[in-house]
Amino acid sequence: MADSVRGLAGEFKRFLAAQEEDEFLTTVAPLRAAVSAPTKVTSSSIISSAGTLPPMASNSTLDVTFVHQNNTTPTPEAPTMNKADKVRALEELSEAIKSCTRCPLGATRLNAVPGEGNVNADVMFVGEGPGFDEDRQGRPFVGRAGQLLDKMILAMGLTREKVFIANIAKCHPMTDPLHPEKHGNDRAPNAQEIACCRKYIEQQIAIVCPKYVVALGGVAAKALISDANSLGALRGKFHTLHLDSVELPKPVQIIATFHPAALLRNPNWKKDAWVDLQMVMDKLGLKGARK
Ligand code: URA
Repeated sequence: MADSVRGLAGEFKRFLAAQEEDEFLTTVAPLRAAVSAPTKVTSSSIISSAGTLPPMASNSTLDVTFVHQNNTTPTPEAPTMNKADKVRALEELSEAIKSCTRCPLGATRLNAVPGEGNVNADVMFVGEGPGFDEDRQGRPFVGRAGQLLDKMILAMGLTREKVFIANIAKCHPMTDPLHPEKHGNDRAPNAQEIACCRKYIEQQIAIVCPKYVVALGGVAAKALISDANSLGALRGKFHTLHLDSVELPKPVQIIATFHPAALLRNPNWKKDAWVDLQMVMDKLGLKGARK
């Protein structure tokens, strides 16, 4: 008994000492504490018989309403798409995103970053927008924050291949678009950019139709859950996801947690992020990574 208490105390001390990002998996994960834890298209019409996506609402003048209203009513369950249709729909969406010029970011990006992953994923991670590395590679979360996200995913007992990863904004929001080569030239997407991109992430969520969406950081949490609340107010509980433009074929739960970049800046928040991730793990019966 005394040994096991000493063991737990030792583990807890090591946990508190785990301030480096590369310890998320090796140190934090094994310490798994019990946590109790407007007109819409239907998902089946996301791909028409001609294989094309429904038209996006015209807002080329960017004269759009930026307020996201969570006022949609839950819809009864409809059959989800089969794998081949999901792949085709996501590919079409990616092509549309790659040629998108709906907002000014389309003119300065090096590569659009549509998102990637398992079309039948149970969990979908949504960040705010591509950074320097993602802009160069056209893939989400491939820089330092992405390396930490990979560790968080592994700690949950998942792999990148098993989940879907995307962003609210699909193009790199830069502080200084005249100098895209500058490092540290990142900023959060603004309301106009989020409004222009909203239908892309909504369609991706409706196509994949995961059981759980993990909103990484305040931008994603506010965009997808409620822009009236802070990340602090949205964290720590599941919310039923409501989309503005697409009917979900079945209910999807969303939980908000810290953005990996925020965890790099404030490693003390890792334990809270881990509590959030464990809530998803508990729902899915995931045991997490074991050393
Ligand atoms: N930050 C994000 O929000 N998304 C990425 O893809 C990379 C960094």
